[in-house]
Amino acid sequence: MSDKTTPAPRPGILDITPYVPGESKADYSGPVIKLSANETPLGPSPKALAAYGDLSALERYPDGQAEALRQAIADAYGLNPERIVCGAGSDELLGLLAQGYLGPGDEAIYTQHGFLVYRIAILANGATPVIAPETDNRADVGAILDKVSDRTKIVFLANPNNPTGTYLPFDELQRLRGALPGHVILVLDAAYAEYVRRNDYEAGLELVATTNNTVMTRTFSKVYGLAALRIGWCYAPATIADVLNRIRGPFNVSAPAIAAAVAAIGDASHMEKAIVHNDQWLAWLTGKLEGIGLKVTPSVANFLLIHFPDAQGNRAADADAALSAKGILLRRVVGYGFPNALRMSVGTEKENRQVIAALEAFMSKDGGAS
Ligand SMILES: Cc1ncc(COP(=O)(O)O)c(C=O)c1O
Repeated sequence: MSDKTTPAPRPGILDITPYVPGESKADYSGPVIKLSANETPLGPSPKALAAYGDLSALERYPDGQAEALRQAIADAYGLNPERIVCGAGSDELLGLLAQGYLGPGDEAIYTQHGFLVYRIAILANGATPVIAPETDNRADVGAILDKVSDRTKIVFLANPNNPTGTYLPFDELQRLRGALPGHVILVLDAAYAEYVRRNDYEAGLELVATTNNTVMTRTFSKVYGLAALRIGWCYAPATIADVLNRIRGPFNVSAPAIAAAVAAIGDASHMEKAIVHNDQWLAWLTGKLEGIGLKVTPSVANFLLIHFPDAQGNRAADADAALSAKGILLRRVVGYGFPNALRMSVGTEKENRQVIAALEAFMSKDGGAS
């Protein structure tokens, strides 16, 4: 009930649980190993760093159309630059899609362990979040379709998903798109697309190109190593790009971010290095974790979801405490519906070996007093 003396936010806002980022600080005096936010251990391309540092005219506004970056992305992927919209991270674009298409009375669907920014974006616009169950920690097209109602306006799907690392192959996406009503936007959040090495994976370009109601979001935060700059992009039908351009801030991406991203996308060899590193260590980590007796959800991204035994002293919270005491920060994922799991980003070789040694010690219960 509103009174006339106190400002009240829009309905839905106070239902939002603020996003909790991965830990970045540990109560530990030595060097901290931060593997809590799916960042690349290789850092950005040296070319991106140089381009970022090259800027002198800080008194000037950036190019509000991010022309150079949209053209660089278009060239790299063979796209129409008019249909690319850049944002302050893909988070901003997810929020703008919700703002443009959702309001009170509308519903938007995401999956059981889906990326939590979707829920925030939906509630922030007064709409109702609808959660589709997953099967084996993987999105389930049938379950999503079962949740569609007359009120559904958007389906948000992270592919691969964070924090599970699982993905849907292209034929499943086609089935989903084919069965969704035409007015429902399918948002394919492909933040980790570059890491996926599967023949049956398609990030979303194909569906955006062939339908008028599919959007693909991408980011420079992950494989490109530019998370601090907040820069992402989406490829959308012209009508949806037009909506986003009407409501976004006129200068929503900064000049250093544009410059660094243009240089990053031009450095294919740095990206390749990051992908090869990930491929090698994702497999190594999976094998080692299983060898220690921990269950790992099979991941195609740059992180792993590690499940702990439901045993006194051996649960995820205990592991988190034991690792933190050694300066190792993984991600608790209670808010994602995994009270007994931790998510770990693939780190440098040294970091990966240190985590495995610490977990071996933890599981063998010598407390890891090394
Ligand atoms: C699935 C998914 N989508 C989007 C994002 C947001 O990325 P950005 O840094 O581009 O806002 C993340 C970041 O963790 C993510 O995991």
